[in-house]
Amino acid sequence: MKPEIKFDPPEINNRFSPDADAVIFQGNCLELLRQVPDKSVQLVVTSPPYNIGKSYEKKISLETYYEQQKEVIEQCARVLTDQGSICWQVGNHVDNGAIIPLDSLLFPIFHNLGFVMRNRIIWCFEHGLHSSRRLSGRYETVIWFTRNTKDYVFNLDPIRVPQKYPGKRYFKGPKAGQYSCNPLGKNPGDVWDIPNVKSNHVEKTEHPCQFPVELIERFVLSLSNKGDWVLDPYLGVGSSVIAAVKHQRKGIGSEIISRYVEIAKERTKSAMLGNLRTRAMGTPKYDPIQAGNKLTIAPWNTEQDDRQLRLLQSMAEYKP
Ligand SMILES: C[S@@+](CC[C@H](N)C(=O)[O-])C[C@H]1O[C@@H](n2cnc3c(N)ncnc32)[C@H](O)[C@@H]1O
Repeated sequence: MKPEIKFDPPEINNRFSPDADAVIFQGNCLELLRQVPDKSVQLVVTSPPYNIGKSYEKKISLETYYEQQKEVIEQCARVLTDQGSICWQVGNHVDNGAIIPLDSLLFPIFHNLGFVMRNRIIWCFEHGLHSSRRLSGRYETVIWFTRNTKDYVFNLDPIRVPQKYPGKRYFKGPKAGQYSCNPLGKNPGDVWDIPNVKSNHVEKTEHPCQFPVELIERFVLSLSNKGDWVLDPYLGVGSSVIAAVKHQRKGIGSEIISRYVEIAKERTKSAMLGNLRTRAMGTPKYDPIQAGNKLTIAPWNTEQDDRQLRLLQSMAEYKP
């Protein structure tokens, strides 16, 4: 067992050092990765640019994008421990209305490096752009790879979710009458319904597409152990490093935009001090109808219409 990390005082290094608790590097991820020794990182979890012309990226040809991703993934593979995992969170590249799922594009890179895919997790959420010529996109994926080994780290218990029918019992056989489900909860499955970070999310910063911390907490808890290094080459405003330090892991990340680096450092320090507000894992989704939000009542369903409907219903019941 590795000793507890105190984060006291909460220090963040600008460059990699094996003795650091957290490293946030401003610059190209390849430059950071060059500082990290072989087989030293237990979990790489990231969301690269999708090459769709967001404010933080320049749209390039898909071939160039593929080559750039390949170089970064190769470096991530080099720094990964033998029992480690790589989780690459992506959506679609969109070109002139045609969508190209980036997980399909990038899969061969991992496969050719000898990695094995363990899950393709569907991350679904409710908010995003409304499309008019196709269905609005409401999910993205996380492709999770390990090396071709049986002893990769996978801790299921810390990420179990409540059972649907915890009171269910075996009705026959030697265990008849005993509770049939695991009291610690059930496996969360590979479809994760976790709100994305939009305007009224407690974690919202000025970054246009930050991770909800709870999404990364699931990977940190299940695919690493206390004291391990967790790395995010495309760190944005720090969500992966935050998820790592929240759970006694050490975080490393790189980000090219100085403003995002500044926010990432502020948020990470607060997380190290235990002051950062994040949406707690397992919080039920906000249901505006249940919450009695008036905006859920369509103004065009007037009382008049309602009365007419009731009149029609009573006429249907009228038997002369
Ligand atoms: C999809 S966002 C990731 C956001 C992040 N998951 C978060 O929670 O904030 C991709 C980020 O990668 C950064 N980026 C793009 N190219 C980079 C590079 N070569 N090295 C480091 N960061 C890069 C962008 O500025 C952007 O903030």
